[in-house]
Amino acid sequence: MPAVKQTPLTVPSHTLLAHKLAALRDKTTPAATFRRLLAEIGAILTVEATAELEATHQTVETPLMPMSHKVLAQPEPCLVPVLRAGLGLLEGARWILPEAPVGHVGLFRDERTLSPQEYVVRLPPDLAERGAILLDPMLATGGSAVAAVDRLKQAGAKRIIFVCVVAAPEGAQKLAAAHPDVPCFAASLDERLNEHGYILPGLGDAGDRCFGT
Ligand code: PRP
Ligand code: URA
Repeated sequence: MPAVKQTPLTVPSHTLLAHKLAALRDKTTPAATFRRLLAEIGAILTVEATAELEATHQTVETPLMPMSHKVLAQPEPCLVPVLRAGLGLLEGARWILPEAPVGHVGLFRDERTLSPQEYVVRLPPDLAERGAILLDPMLATGGSAVAAVDRLKQAGAKRIIFVCVVAAPEGAQKLAAAHPDVPCFAASLDERLNEHGYILPGLGDAGDRCFGT
């Protein structure tokens, strides 16, 4: 599938992904539909983000004959949503990686400074062996993404992929500068941030829209 690749940011070119994102952005979309769309987008982005996972071959016996088949070389990577809004992506990511352990990183942005404040971290013990996919719909200033990756690396993760829905250029650059080894997949690279640190055109406050707060 052709993609706009601006290492380490990849924006998959996928009509269905764009279609669902249009509905997600729409300010009249109700919370229940917003959550469903976020889950579906989470599934599509997880497929895209895992395309290059290490593979090996194993023998499979079909009803007719044995064959050598491409399979995952490692167990499924851990899924780590950034609370709260990352939970919306998690549902769809788990459709694709049903055996992945799930960790949680809870961060909220200080409204005045926009710096991330950590309130919970619970991570699976085998991050180092499995690697991790971080899930957060919004990459705005990039402060939360950098802090979340820092946390996973402190816990031993070496292979980390960041999945978001909407990225601002400022956040994508900050994440790439701080963690150039972390590939980032986004459904859209938007125009810019406003003076309150919200992404334009964006989709508003993802956590509030997801949970009706
Ligand atoms: C949102 C979003 C990211 C963060 C992005 O979370 O889900 O975690 O903001 O902003 P940044 O790139 O400038 O750090 P928020 O802090 O609003 O918390 P919530 O998910 O609980 O609503
Ligand atoms: N967090 C959000 O939920 N939306 C933005 O536009 C920026 C940060």
